[in-house]
Amino acid sequence: MHIYKVKDYKELSRKAANIVSAQIILKPDSVLGLATGSTPIGIYKQLIEWYKKKDLDFNDVKSVNLDEYKGLSPENKQSYHYFMNENLFRHVNIKPENTNLPDGMADDALSECNRFNKVIEQLGGIDLQILGLGHNGHIGFNEPGDTFVKGTHCVALTKSTLEANARLFEAGETVPEYAFTMGIKTIMLAKKILLVVSGSDKAKILSEVLTGPITPQVPASILQMHTDFTVIADSQAAELIDEKNINEKF
Ligand code: F6R
Repeated sequence: MHIYKVKDYKELSRKAANIVSAQIILKPDSVLGLATGSTPIGIYKQLIEWYKKKDLDFNDVKSVNLDEYKGLSPENKQSYHYFMNENLFRHVNIKPENTNLPDGMADDALSECNRFNKVIEQLGGIDLQILGLGHNGHIGFNEPGDTFVKGTHCVALTKSTLEANARLFEAGETVPEYAFTMGIKTIMLAKKILLVVSGSDKAKILSEVLTGPITPQVPASILQMHTDFTVIADSQAAELIDEKNINEKF
């Protein structure tokens, strides 16, 4: 596990973008695992800037996203598809056919999960997976529970997620109740994992994730088992990490 404690969100974004950029330079046809949410926005901004300066080329890059709301089309402003287009895809030369998200409009959830698993498998797996961290320790939409779910699955959103989302939707818009998400096994099979965490409201959960027991009640705690796991946390998010408690013995 490599932990980088950085000053602030700006430094976090720059350091994470450096890692993503190195990945693309070393392997131009990399399969990037992408996340939505507020934390990666700064990374995407930095990557766009470097692309515009011709320091980065996305021509051969492929991407898979962690999750998508069930029932939302790519044109829906609340969809993760829309988010990715707005925050990264339409600003760089990644080929639209090389970007992959679960299809929120798929009628048959089970076949959509199977399709998405196959897409990842056929791409040869994920080279570098970017992850944000939920306040309850979730990664993707893998919420706390009794077991780790392996592959892509469709989840009922928890009450707290529904409440958190409700404020983002305008009156009259349907707040999705279900979402597709990559499973924990798929995430763990990524060759490299990069977890980015910002803000004091994530400090407690981040210390649990890194130094607490590995349990499906804190889904991100499984990342302790990954052999190439990097965390970038700003000083506020990192303030409760006690590195003496990070057990590298096993
Ligand atoms: C997004 C995702 C979520 C977020 C997490 C943190 O695709 O899978 O797990 O990464 O909820 O979100 P932010 O970065 O908004 O705090």
